[in-house]
Amino acid sequence: MKVLLTGATGYIGSAVTDHLTAAGHQVVALTRSAEPQPGRAWHAQVVGDTADPASLAGAVTPDIEAVIHLAPPSGDAGADTAVIEALAAPLRGTGRPFVYTSGVWVLGATGEAQEVGEEAPVNPAGIVGHRPRIEQRVLAEAAEGVRAVVVRPGIVYGRGGGIPAILVDRARQQGVPEYYGEEGVRWPTVHVDDLAELFVAALERAAAGTVWHGVGEPAVPVRDLARAAGRAAGVLAAPHAVPVEQAAEVFGPLFADALALDQSVSGAAARTALGWRPDRPGAVAELVSGSYRPVEVFGAPDGPETDAEVAAIRHLVAEVEHAQQNELVEQFLSVFRREDPVWTTGHGMRLSGFEEISAFTRKVLPGAMAESTAVYDVERVLFLRPGIAAVNVRQQPVLLDGTRIADRPEGRPFYILVKEDGTWRVGAAQNTVAVG
Ligand SMILES: NC(=O)c1ccc[n+]([C@@H]2O[C@H](COP(=O)([O-])OP(=O)(O)OC[C@H]3O[C@@H](n4cnc5c(N)ncnc54)[C@H](OP(=O)(O)O)[C@@H]3O)[C@@H](O)[C@H]2O)c1
Repeated sequence: MKVLLTGATGYIGSAVTDHLTAAGHQVVALTRSAEPQPGRAWHAQVVGDTADPASLAGAVTPDIEAVIHLAPPSGDAGADTAVIEALAAPLRGTGRPFVYTSGVWVLGATGEAQEVGEEAPVNPAGIVGHRPRIEQRVLAEAAEGVRAVVVRPGIVYGRGGGIPAILVDRARQQGVPEYYGEEGVRWPTVHVDDLAELFVAALERAAAGTVWHGVGEPAVPVRDLARAAGRAAGVLAAPHAVPVEQAAEVFGPLFADALALDQSVSGAAARTALGWRPDRPGAVAELVSGSYRPVEVFGAPDGPETDAEVAAIRHLVAEVEHAQQNELVEQFLSVFRREDPVWTTGHGMRLSGFEEISAFTRKVLPGAMAESTAVYDVERVLFLRPGIAAVNVRQQPVLLDGTRIADRPEGRPFYILVKEDGTWRVGAAQNTVAVG
């Protein structure tokens, strides 16, 4: 389909462009500026500004087979309604899809209810006060022969962006990870690439007059997200709950109230009815060892294949950390290659061969994490040749609550990894204590 996409330059719009294109659709991007944007996978670009609905007249030409409206509302109900009118009217009587982007904040705090669905009554946070009316205005187009659909994303993460990036920046600036409002606050979350796939599914398959929650994880404790954001920022400290009034001084009262919403929202309907399969790493994992922590990469070209290899290597190092923190001997051993691995410990003990490594691990790991443990972050990957990588890791000692042990030195593990049968494993590893 030839799809007019508003908000195409934005965080979600960039991912939606990629996934629409990959699914064989053509994106006509509606942008405020006529400036060409090289590198975007757009078929064409048209100029329009949603703050000036008249500028949208003519944007939906007869060859446009669908509209996805991602540009944010202005906050002026009249102007936002006029935008829907301008974008939807040319589709009337055609049965063509019009997908409007709302958000889970229209549900307000969900209270005791677990994983509320699309049928739940709205109770919008102040920042999206008139959005339910816009949703209704969009859905009413179903009676006019438009395949009108509403998508309500949760808190979007991934590609190093979105609201979680604000948590990372704040942790870096403040030297302590922050979250807002009460300790038990939870956010429904969705990976931006999973969400983009939902937009494609909604465009292709959703029935007229339907609403879909774009939610991968229904209720992630924001305290966990804050801790992970601290990790991404290199700040290993216990998260600090900032009262909403104080957060309002930083973000303004409306945004602060929204950040403090406790929500548990289900994205099950889209899985069942549209065949949506959100399968990207969860928000905490993405913050800890994904796109929010850039890795220096050498020896391989930029691109999705290298990104996938780096992600797999980070996954392996995350397994080392998880196995060690939880004293899981078998999982720890599974990261090593069977054939002649070698591991030199931080104290200089060289273990040669799988049997020696196995015997040492069985003796030392159980009980080793009773009082403290360590976190491992990949900092640099050098692909020596396809399937062989030299990896520099930063190891930091932490207490069991994740806070840095100030007076204990870091380690600088160095791994030679080998990819065999599609899986990266440790061929050789050396740890060095960083002194001074
Ligand atoms: N991010 C989330 O977690 C989240 C969650 C739920 C719902 N949403 C909703 O999803 C939508 C997209 O969010 P996002 O995070 O991708 O936002 P974003 O990164 O800020 O992108 C906004 C996009 O809208 C365009 N835009 C802004 N004002 C415009 C105007 N007056 N006329 C035309 N285009 C305009 C921007 O274009 P320029 O390049 O010209 O600035 C940009 O392409 C919004 O409606 C948002 O409320 C987001």
